[in-house]
Amino acid sequence: MKHIIYSKKIKNDILLTILSDIHYSKDFDMTWLNQCLKNLKIDAPDAIMIIGDLVDECNINNKDINNLLDYFHNLSKIAPVFITLGNHDITYKIKRKKWKKVEDKDNFWLTSLEKFCNNEENIHIIINESLDYNLKGNRITISTLVMNNEYFLEQKENKLEHKNTFLKYFNPIFKKNTYNIHLEHSPLRIMNKNIRKDLGITNLDLTLSGHAHNGLIATVPFNNVFKRNIFSFIGNIIFSTSSFILPKNCGLVGIKGHKLKLFTSNCRGRIDFKDGSIGFISNAVTTISKTSPKILEKFNNESFYPKEQYISIKKQS
Ligand SMILES: [Fe+2]
Repeated sequence: MKHIIYSKKIKNDILLTILSDIHYSKDFDMTWLNQCLKNLKIDAPDAIMIIGDLVDECNINNKDINNLLDYFHNLSKIAPVFITLGNHDITYKIKRKKWKKVEDKDNFWLTSLEKFCNNEENIHIIINESLDYNLKGNRITISTLVMNNEYFLEQKENKLEHKNTFLKYFNPIFKKNTYNIHLEHSPLRIMNKNIRKDLGITNLDLTLSGHAHNGLIATVPFNNVFKRNIFSFIGNIIFSTSSFILPKNCGLVGIKGHKLKLFTSNCRGRIDFKDGSIGFISNAVTTISKTSPKILEKFNNESFYPKEQYISIKKQS
């Protein structure tokens, strides 16, 4: 799947690929990621953007993360890798609906990831800061916003006080003369047209988010329909057909304030803002992860395997 966009700030065309919501856990099935790596070697993107929820739970055992870090290393041989965090990278589940907040200093996953990235020449972890980068002769600035775990866990992401928290935290500066790419795991606020107005954002060119897991809409319709159980069969019909029925960016099941809601807007795909800025909400490598509600697990099947996503940014003449 390739989206083509144009910009006057681009001198030499660039190809980005996006990986979001890997939700890596112990005994993770690497089949899709390995196939993706092979495909990326052929398609040769100029940059790889990883926009959060790298792991399913941040209390993952240190000895279990080597496969994932090796994978990032292999990606970095293809192109520079830019990483930001999601809510799962800073929390873990203690029981059914209860999540544990973890302070950065106690987050061993984050410590290991940062240490790893610091030793890797072509991998950049960006947490609440901006990085100026020369990509194929283009001046690029990559900024990120990682809200803290309280923001995600209070289940009030929608409430006014949290909107104000967001407005307070949001402070990247988008320069006029660089191509500005903003990475933010949750699309809930940053893809909201009114909030962008409140923020008075100017000069932002491209915003990339994940988090919404494609609104639980299947990416490969009707795959292996008859091979699984009755839930999987019904799930295929519902999750596959919903993309034809629902409006463009709407999801069948979306996340609002850390709660699952039906028919949520801004869950998937490309959004064109009035100022010419583009938003893109990525699908998830793992649509239904181990910490997802148990009921969703029953519907899990290969239909949710994502397709590789590319954004081609071309010089506007
Ligand atoms: Fe996620």
